[in-house]
Amino acid sequence: MTEPEPPSVAALSLAESSTAPVSKAAEQEINPWDVQAATDEQGNVLEFDYEAISKKWATKLIDAELLARFERVTGHKPHRWLRRALFFSHRDLELILDTYERDGEFLLYTGRGPSSDSMHIGHTIPFEFTKWLQDVFDVPLVIMLTDDEKFLFKEKLTQVEVYQFARDNAKDIISVGFDVNKTFLYIDSEFLTSGYNRHFSLNATEFEKLVTNNQVRGAFGFHGSTNIGSNAFAAKQCVAAFASSYPFIWGLDVKTYHRSAKLAAIPCLIPCAIDQDPYFRLVRDNCSRMAQPSPKPALIHSKFLTALQGAGGKMSASNPNSAIFMSDTEKQIKNKINKHAFSGGQETLELHQELGGNPDIDVAYQYLTYFEDDDEKLVKFAEEYRRGVMMTGDMKKECVNIMAKYVKGFQEARAKVTDEMLEEFLRPRKLEWRGNPKVERKPEVKEEAKGGEEGATLGEDGKPLTKNQMKKLAKLAELERKKKEKEAAKAAAAQS
Ligand code: TRP
Repeated sequence: MTEPEPPSVAALSLAESSTAPVSKAAEQEINPWDVQAATDEQGNVLEFDYEAISKKWATKLIDAELLARFERVTGHKPHRWLRRALFFSHRDLELILDTYERDGEFLLYTGRGPSSDSMHIGHTIPFEFTKWLQDVFDVPLVIMLTDDEKFLFKEKLTQVEVYQFARDNAKDIISVGFDVNKTFLYIDSEFLTSGYNRHFSLNATEFEKLVTNNQVRGAFGFHGSTNIGSNAFAAKQCVAAFASSYPFIWGLDVKTYHRSAKLAAIPCLIPCAIDQDPYFRLVRDNCSRMAQPSPKPALIHSKFLTALQGAGGKMSASNPNSAIFMSDTEKQIKNKINKHAFSGGQETLELHQELGGNPDIDVAYQYLTYFEDDDEKLVKFAEEYRRGVMMTGDMKKECVNIMAKYVKGFQEARAKVTDEMLEEFLRPRKLEWRGNPKVERKPEVKEEAKGGEEGATLGEDGKPLTKNQMKKLAKLAELERKKKEKEAAKAAAAQS
């Protein structure tokens, strides 16, 4: 998730100089670099409309039926963040469940753009969720720290600074409790120059060749004066979803030019905030066109976490009062929640008792929904708040307790993360996992290094495709590509 940018000087002076009462209504804006809630005519910030964005981008909402299947397949009760729709939308999660039932494994992939050294709960929650997914499925996980991305997109940051942020953030991420035997964490500027990155880089170059300027312009709103690194970066975040980018995780040779078709065929699941979806649409649109095709990565999308100031706001690393930071003391947490957490209660005690409060907009209650696992307890709080029996102060107290406990636990874990541990997570190496215990383990992937430069492309039956079949596939892919290009050109034309 990116922090919202302050308005530009030009925008500010424009706003000040206009005297006529203009409508300040604006639609919500959600893309990987800019996330703004809608405003009404008076300029009041509104809540994000998640159903609208899901509809606009044609993602699927996670429903009770899917959660029931999740529980049947994994034997785990869905995490409270799934039950309460903090992770609310998906692409092809059913297919990942199919894969897990049939093959017992897949690749998990997530990441973070290290734009500051101070992480807050809005940053740790996606990683907590990813760790839970890893525990549930017992599959390998890659975590990408995109210091290159932050350098390219943030005018003011230097390469040395973003690298240092990445190292600090990596330690924070490790503190969430990932299992080093199953997790490869990498900092782009390091891994992509390490010598272990040959297959990643070959994938990236191949992917760059498949995607045109029109396509990235359509997907990201890039224009003629966007730096060329931004275009190229998109390919990196995309091919990071291909298991074939990390042969060492499966103990395969990293030096050969033969990328593994079998690895390419391993499905991937990406938990991420909804603003990252444009990247992954790009990879979903183009992955079948790789010489060794990969299935479309599946996604689980989260909402944005509510800022202390209330819905529509975003937690920001540059505003200490917008969020609970992982470095906050118990006293700071107490102060922030008591002073800054937007309240859904009434002005006075008497009014609150008479009219009751609104937990839906009460930030203390919202934070409780993030961290209190007991569904019944939450229902009780909400109900008593509405009836005016539970006071704002009571709600805040509950919230302070649970937040302080979470942050303290994190800090204790963080204090134990050494430089040696960090180096081990960052080291490209073979990982170990079990996958679905109900599925018999397959023999390890050993690539047949025959079949020409590209390796063999396997059909649905697992057999190499015939020349004719390959031709047919290529033709279909080419048609699809032309169609996409036309659409992208149209979209780019409409934007300019
Ligand atoms: N672009 C993301 C950010 O700015 C970082 C990222 C890279 C990521 N790969 C990812 C996030 C995969 C989620 C999933 O934070």
